Amino acid sequence: MKRVLTYGTFDMLHEGHINLLRRARELGDYLVVALSTDEFNTIKGKSAFFPYKKRKLILEAVRYVDLVIPEETWEQKIDDINNYNIDIVVMGSDWAGSKRFEYLREYAEVVYLPRTRGVSSTKIKRTCGNLLRVAGD
Ligand code: CTP
Repeated sequence: MKRVLTYGTFDMLHEGHINLLRRARELGDYLVVALSTDEFNTIKGKSAFFPYKKRKLILEAVRYVDLVIPEETWEQKIDDINNYNIDIVVMGSDWAGSKRFEYLREYAEVVYLPRTRGVSSTKIKRTCGNLLRVAGD
């Protein structure tokens, strides 16, 4: 049984996320998603529209996701790999070669999957903001 782990905020869940989750799950038999908490997003300089509890509820309803755990620090990854018996860590290609993940090769396989073009949580939020501004004109 191969166990796969990925990290992210997964706000405003979109097709790029679903593609990433599907392909990550296809690399093995069990997919763990470490979901950034709101506090950790603040550390990363990100702010999610949906709070952690709602993002978790939505992710848990995705058929490719077997388990959602909190991502609370940059340093937890080796513990996650050990605690959940992870074989492969997967991230989107925006993280390819990043020092945040490369050092994990000592502990698990590290795979970067191509990002889905043209969509991101930031872009969706920006579009919604623009629509609201137009509606308010
Ligand atoms: N991802 C992807 N394709 C996209 C968007 C995201 O494959 N179009 C992947 C990322 O590479 C990452 C995971 O989905 O491995 C979670 O990414 P996240 O940062 O939560 O999503 P984004 O939409 O990139 O969010 P933001 O705009 O806030 O950066």
